[in-house]
Amino acid sequence: MSANDTPTRILRDQHRNILKVADVLEEILANEHQPGVFDFDAIADCASFIRLYADALHHGKEEALLFPELVERGMPRDTGPIAVMLHEHQRGRAYAKTMVDALPGAREGNVDATRALVSAARGYIDLIRAHIMKEDNILFNMADQLIDEPACRALCAAYDGVCARHFEGHTVAELEAILTRLLERYPAA
Ligand SMILES: [Fe+2]
Ligand SMILES: [Fe+2]
Repeated sequence: MSANDTPTRILRDQHRNILKVADVLEEILANEHQPGVFDFDAIADCASFIRLYADALHHGKEEALLFPELVERGMPRDTGPIAVMLHEHQRGRAYAKTMVDALPGAREGNVDATRALVSAARGYIDLIRAHIMKEDNILFNMADQLIDEPACRALCAAYDGVCARHFEGHTVAELEAILTRLLERYPAA
């Protein structure tokens, strides 16, 4: 751990990846081949990344490790910033589920399914950008003040344990490869 390391550094780095996928998703939605016909394979990749990397891995680390450490150090869990972040994680999960559920119908050209897919994707993009801005600029700054170096080291080691897991059979490197593939296809995002 370097002198500049903080308990939130790994999570802040993951935020950059999640924001890139939000940018790609936004570009896909702006790039209809014909009215209502999108790059559904890329949307499916975005949905997989959102479910497995942004939620299972990243939000999983926040909910299982960082937030409990903050509660341990006196922050309330059921009110204030942590409660808001937990609620937003739930909203993100609901948007991702709607996207996954609507994808097959949207691929077949169903208008209602396409509308539901686009609406959920746009909702997710707005939500996750605002969510990450709040964590990066408010909650994580508070965390960096509250968590001392020994606890920071312990948290980082625990994060490594989570990163060693598989997510629906995928390693973290495989999930990051989804992002690489999306950025190759949408380099301007
Ligand atoms: Fe979060
Ligand atoms: Fe986060």
